[in-house]
Order: sequence, then C-alpha cells, then structure tokens
Amino acid sequence: MNRLILPVLFAVLYQVYGLPLNTEEDEYLFKSWLSQYNKKYEINEYYQRLQIFLENKKKIERHNAGNHTFSMGLNRFSDMTFTEFKKFYLLTEPQNCSATKGNHLSSNGPYPDMIDWRTKGHYVTDVKNQGACGSCWTFSTTGCLESVTAIATGKLLQLAEQQLVDCAGAFDNHGCNGGLPSHAFEYIMYNKGLMTEQDYPYKAMQGECRFKQGLAAAFVKEVVNITKYDEMGMVDAVARLNPVSFAYEVTSDFMHYRDGIYTSTKCHNTTDMVNHAVLAVGYAEQNGTPYWIVKNSWGTDWGINGYFYIERGKNMCGLAACSSYPLPLV
Ligand SMILES: *[C@@H]1O[C@H](CO)[C@@H](O)[C@H](O)[C@H]1NC(C)=O
Ligand SMILES: *[C@@H]1O[C@H](CO)[C@@H](O)[C@H](O)[C@H]1NC(C)=O
Ligand SMILES: *[C@@H]1O[C@H](CO)[C@@H](O)[C@H](O)[C@H]1NC(C)=O
Ligand SMILES: *[C@@H]1O[C@H](CO)[C@@H](O)[C@H](O)[C@H]1NC(C)=O
Repeated sequence: MNRLILPVLFAVLYQVYGLPLNTEEDEYLFKSWLSQYNKKYEINEYYQRLQIFLENKKKIERHNAGNHTFSMGLNRFSDMTFTEFKKFYLLTEPQNCSATKGNHLSSNGPYPDMIDWRTKGHYVTDVKNQGACGSCWTFSTTGCLESVTAIATGKLLQLAEQQLVDCAGAFDNHGCNGGLPSHAFEYIMYNKGLMTEQDYPYKAMQGECRFKQGLAAAFVKEVVNITKYDEMGMVDAVARLNPVSFAYEVTSDFMHYRDGIYTSTKCHNTTDMVNHAVLAVGYAEQNGTPYWIVKNSWGTDWGINGYFYIERGKNMCGLAACSSYPLPLV
C-alpha cells in the first residue's frame, strides 16, 4: 500500500506545487547555463534560481512547439521571474510621452519596401548593454544621436549614456529609474552637448554629473516628435531620414525572445503603458508580415545579435505611442 501511495503522492505534489524533482539533465543544463553567463549562487539561491530557470525553460519549449512568428530561447535572463526583470531592466512608472501633435513633417512617399541603416553605410554603432539599470532610454537616445550625427558628418561616434543617467534629471528623467529619449534630446539641446563614451564611461548606476563642456562631442539643434500613434510617420522618418527612437510595452514573453517577428496579444498599446525604449534602424517584410528592425540594449547575446523584429503597421505594443529623433547641430 505505502509503496504505491508514496510515488503517487509525490507525483501529485510535483504537479501541484512544482516540487524540485529535477532530473540530472535539467541540473546539467542549468550548470552549463550558469557557467556560460559567469554566474554563481549560494546553495539556497541556487535551488530557487534552478526552479525559475526550469519554469522559464518550460515556457520557452511550450511556445516553440506552437505556431508563432517568433521563437524563444534561453538567454541571460532565464533565471529571473518577469517581476524581477521588470524591476531591474524596465521603466517602472508611466512616462509622460504623449506628443498629441508632433512636429515631424511626413512626405507622401512612396517608400522603399525595406531599409536597413546598418547596411547603408557606417551609421549604427554596435549593440551595447545597459546592465541592471532602467537606463534603456539613454541607449535609445545615444543610438539615435550617434546615427543622425554620422549621417550628417560621416563620422560615427560612441556617445555617453552615463552623462544622461547622471545629468538629465531636470528634464523629467530619472537615471536608472527611467526617462524618455525625447526628454533626453531636449536635455542635450539645452545643455549644449553630449560627451563620448570614452570620456564619460558607462557604469550602470547613477552618480554625480561630471559633464565637461569642453569635451562635448555631439549636439542637438531641434527635437522632432512624431505624432502619437502615427506609425506611418515613423516609416516616413526611417525611410527618408534616419533611425528613430521609440518606446513600447515589454511583457513577460518578450524577455525570452530569440528571433523572428515579435507579436503579442498581451501587451497594451497606449502611451501610459510603455516601459522600454529602443531604436528602429530599419524595416522590411517577410511572408506578407511587415516588421521593424530594432536595436536593443541588452547585449549582443540577446535576440538576433542584440536586435529584434517586431510587427509593423498595428501600433504593436504601443510602439508608435512616443517616437522621436533629434536634428543634429554640426
Ligand atoms: C501557422 O500560422 C499561420 C499564420 O497564422 C497559418 O497560415 C498556418 O497555416 C499555420 N500553420 C499550422 C501548421 O498551423
Ligand atoms: C510626469 O509629469 C508629472 C508632472 O509634471 C511629474 O510629476 C511626473 O514625475 C512625471 N513622470 C515621470 C515618470 O517623469
Ligand atoms: C516632444 O514630446 C515631449 C514628450 O515626449 C514633450 O515634452 C516635448 O515638448 C515635445 N517637443 C516638441 C518639440 O514638440
Ligand atoms: C489598441 O488596440 C485596440 C485593440 O486591438 C484597438 O481597438 C485600438 O484602436 C488600439 N489603439 C491604438 C492607439 O493603437
């Protein structure tokens, strides 16, 4: 009797509570994942992280077994819950980003079927890594200013996110707790310049402002907002002018993105829900599905060498809610 009941009881507990009955294979996978990302845990946290890792792995496998336009994979975030991920990497407060009436002037097209600023010339810097700091907005900002400056001057600089983290607070920005590219462009315009990465290195934490006017290397003449929800305005700007900064809402599935065209039925699409800022460097279409080519700031080992594709034309996850770019002063 006992011999029968115990395994059944265990199986039930496992199903109901997800008790740690890990296979050796699972632990082996987790251990090689830990060494791949150079992580170490004390024994208690090790088992806690292992459980989260296995939950995420299950979710990824379930997703990949389905019929989706994008796939998921293990990455450096695979031992975090989405709640933790949100806290460390995303904007946590609603942002004041509604440009009810933007100042971008669209042409009437026609637009090319695809454009990719990475291959048009030396206009896009390598993907960077924001670390555990809600500073995505600074990377979206530098990425865009780097590109518009390179397009205007032929010189591709690496610009300083850390200056924005430390110094741009007077423009409704909050260091590692979030901010907006359009507000950061205004800071750069009124502050009269942004230094280079080399002169003001990135630290993934907020410190005292160490801006030196004499070392300013890139400048903003004007901030251009694209009217909220005008996704064709974004197409117009990216097709004719330069990459464009935008914000959107990241939900739990996005954390595991590996490749393909991201779409979601869970995310919201309004200005008050955006929680991550990135850079559209181009667009294209695959099997009739239009998409954006987007530079992220989670390192090159996330997504498609640090990039992702997201469906275009539907204000997917609010991606057209607040987009902007600067005119460079050269
Ligand atoms: C997968 O989804 C696509 C688009 O929704 C559909 O056209 C296709 O028939 C589906 N394939 C399978 C095997 O269900
Ligand atoms: C939005 O604007 C209000 C009013 O100016 C301000 O109090 C609030 O801190 C702003 N929110 C953010 C996230 O910057
Ligand atoms: C652009 O939009 C931001 C809100 O994201 C606003 O604070 C700023 O005044 C706007 N700038 C222009 C030039 O309209
Ligand atoms: C947001 O999505 C809903 C549901 O699909 C749609 O009805 C609405 O028009 C969208 N709003 C915006 C601003 O894109």
